[in-house]
Amino acid sequence: MDKKDLFLLAREAMQNSYAPYSNYNVGAVLLCKNGGIYKGCNVENASFSATNCAERTALFSAISNGEKEFSAICVVGGKYGKITEYAMPCGICRQALSEFCGADLKVYVGISENDIREYTLGELLPFSFDKSKLGE
Ligand code: THU
Repeated sequence: MDKKDLFLLAREAMQNSYAPYSNYNVGAVLLCKNGGIYKGCNVENASFSATNCAERTALFSAISNGEKEFSAICVVGGKYGKITEYAMPCGICRQALSEFCGADLKVYVGISENDIREYTLGELLPFSFDKSKLGE
């Protein structure tokens, strides 16, 4: 499963996006170290704060299915589903991912199969807050 495959799956996931308020459709796919794949899309709500981002939908689906180790996530999105920019994960999703994924998690954001940028979670969330700060 390479980054092009992940891009195509994330674009597929975007098809299920429910975004009647922002019309900003997002799809994400999370790759487990064991090869498993979990897709997610953004799910909006009339009570706006109840909205869930695509990345967290994918993450929570994976965790709910007993997955614990992840190697990459790919995110695509755009207004009215048109992918014209790199869909960078929001701060809340970066933090949510950091609960389960190391700084070496690969984060792919793409515009097309041939235009995919690659970051690590550590680059996108430096100096992060995590459970080690909470002590016993
Ligand atoms: N959104 C995501 O799905 N992922 C992000 O990382 C950023 C934002 C969604 C939430 C909302 O449905 C829409 O994009 C506009 O904020």
